[in-house]
Amino acid sequence: MVADSRRESVSPIDMSVSVGRVRLRNAVMTASGTSGHSDELAAYGELDALGAVVVKSLSVMPWAGNPAPRVHPVAQGMLNAVGLQGPGMAAWLRDDLPRFSSRDASVVVSIWGRTVEEYRDAASVLAEGLRDSTHPIVAVEVNLSCPNMSGHGIFAHDADVSAEVVAAVVGQTSLPVWAKLSPNTDRLVAIAARVREAGADAVTLVNTVLGMALDPDTGRPALGNGGGGLSGRAIHPVAVRAVHDVRAAHPDLPIVGVGGVADGWSAAELIMAGADAVQVGTATFADPAAPFRVAADLEAWLRAHGHRSIGSIRGLAHR
Ligand SMILES: Cc1cc2nc3c(=O)[nH]c(=O)nc-3n(C[C@H](O)[C@H](O)[C@H](O)COP(=O)(O)O)c2cc1C
Repeated sequence: MVADSRRESVSPIDMSVSVGRVRLRNAVMTASGTSGHSDELAAYGELDALGAVVVKSLSVMPWAGNPAPRVHPVAQGMLNAVGLQGPGMAAWLRDDLPRFSSRDASVVVSIWGRTVEEYRDAASVLAEGLRDSTHPIVAVEVNLSCPNMSGHGIFAHDADVSAEVVAAVVGQTSLPVWAKLSPNTDRLVAIAARVREAGADAVTLVNTVLGMALDPDTGRPALGNGGGGLSGRAIHPVAVRAVHDVRAAHPDLPIVGVGGVADGWSAAELIMAGADAVQVGTATFADPAAPFRVAADLEAWLRAHGHRSIGSIRGLAHR
């Protein structure tokens, strides 16, 4: 009897999941923009223990981003207005992608643009750069939801433009396309439907929540950009609600949940709300090993609660 129960307590939990066409070995990924452009987190854990590394959003051109200060701590989270600083897709393909070759990681490439054409061009340069090569990229995540770019609003608040962007990207790549949407709208369910019709394999929910903090000495905004995006534990209930509502309306739409995931339970909660997989962002700033820790913690949480696989809790809130 004793031997049997010991064997049961260490039996493996199936942590693998599918997000549409993509099979991931673990349900926990990094979140775009919070762990660099390449294998930076390899100093803190084995990248193959994660479902995927999601790299910071890349545009077709190099981009300098916003003036400092770019990040500001707030209660239960942080504000950021990094402004999508990056080397541009061609430089990333040349300098950053090869760094994954010695790692057994799966990679999701996030792309952004200021126009539909720039999204299309980023996807086209990516597709051209990958032609005839073996590579670790399993999906393209289309960042439609950055709140920190001046000159245009948040693409993901306009269903027509979002659908146009997704269709343009899908036209350039055979990789699965995930559309990353914004929580700063009450039309998320309808927008998710439109991007799916336009060819998205999955939606990633959510990007940051519009926010601002003031400097007590000056009364002026604490971030160089003025406003920013709120992330971390503070937005976890926003992410749970977004995932829950989209799952309720779209039972078959693959969903990646992101927002305030910092431990096994917060990851499990998004999966119960309807996510197929989750991403860890802001927690990585306080603890660079956070994505690895959350993956281990989620497995321990499942075991402690008598579950044998991610599938047994997925969408539990809707059953
Ligand atoms: C400093 C910082 C930079 C970010 N950069 C990006 C980005 O380049 N592309 C993107 O799609 N999301 C970006 N995000 C949003 C995160 O990927 C994530 O959607 C959001 O922070 C919520 O998750 P979290 O609470 O776990 O951080 C960024 C977030 C932070 C905090």
